[in-house]
Amino acid sequence: MKYEARMREKAEALRREGHALILSVESSCDETAIAVVEDGRIERANAIASQIDVHALYGGVVPEIASRMHVEAIDPLLDEALRQAGVGLDDIDAVAVTYGPGLVGALLTGVSWAKAFAYAADKPLIPVNHIEGHVSANYVAHPDLNPPFVCLVASGGHSHIVYVEAPGHYELLGGTTDDAAGEAFDKVARILKIPYPGGPLLDKLAEEGNDRAYEFPRPHTPGKYDFSFSGLKTAVINRAHHLEQMGETIDAKDWAASFRRCVVDMLVDKTLAAAKDRGASCIAAAGGVASNSLLRRELERRGTKMGFRVCVPPPRLCTDNAVMIGSAGFYRLMAGELATLDLNALPALEMFER
Ligand code: KG4
Ligand code: ZN
Repeated sequence: MKYEARMREKAEALRREGHALILSVESSCDETAIAVVEDGRIERANAIASQIDVHALYGGVVPEIASRMHVEAIDPLLDEALRQAGVGLDDIDAVAVTYGPGLVGALLTGVSWAKAFAYAADKPLIPVNHIEGHVSANYVAHPDLNPPFVCLVASGGHSHIVYVEAPGHYELLGGTTDDAAGEAFDKVARILKIPYPGGPLLDKLAEEGNDRAYEFPRPHTPGKYDFSFSGLKTAVINRAHHLEQMGETIDAKDWAASFRRCVVDMLVDKTLAAAKDRGASCIAAAGGVASNSLLRRELERRGTKMGFRVCVPPPRLCTDNAVMIGSAGFYRLMAGELATLDLNALPALEMFER
């Protein structure tokens, strides 16, 4: 029997059992990661090789360098993941891989590797959307969490508010009309001379600043649950240049705190409004920006006050990792979705039909 027909049978058997130990692969940007996840909920291994130090030299991700570093990192990560999980290849039931969105060369590394691995080891291959992966990190962080819930997804390239009806079933409630939240953090960090990646370091600096020291514009958006960061970002950058020209120095801590407050208020206001109007009882957050300390505190404080259960994964599961891909992959497998060996990387893959 051919590989693909054989895999359909294997996947069907796993679906009937409702159990699977999944080896998952993530390489969409500047982190190479392989994880082992049990039944979509239990983290058995989480091996990551970060390239941040190298890209920091250039002030941002250099796609060609990212692809090459993924190639170098991926094989040792397999050994590391199996070692952490205490399992052998035979124990793995299926392989899940991020096939988009992301940098095409970076994605291709993981996709090609996962296809070769799945074929050689005779395991079913599951295609995973990176953004759906971010949402699914919540299933690992909160094993009793089940949809429906409203999830704020905020990363370097995406900012959405999503109604999660069931794993794999999403309704887009709102999102950014221009820049992603992480992109805004990174660009404002640059004018504060904070090295790449700006978001986490700006967050640290902001912890020591006064968030009322500077008044920045609060943009209006046409959609009730939409956000816009481009105007705020431009205003913040222009004002910094203007002050510089006037010979005034800006207080980086206060600047960071005031900017962070604007972004976080916007994200939290809209998420809470969307959840309230949708009649949800639980709010979750996902993506790199969900590791922002003020965002976590404010969602928890204001969400709980409004009677929501608030779920946010620990920071290490908010930023890119393969555990989230293993969780999303499990639910895709249970829904009967498999990739064929002609799976390609889709850099602009969408999660929602607009
Ligand atoms: O989800 P992620 O790791 O990668 C993408 O899929 O994009 O998100 C990375 C983004 C970057 O823009 C980074 O600056 C931002 O998340 N980020 C943060 C924090 N940690 C990461 N932004 C604000 N505060 C943080 N603590
Ligand atoms: Zn991501």
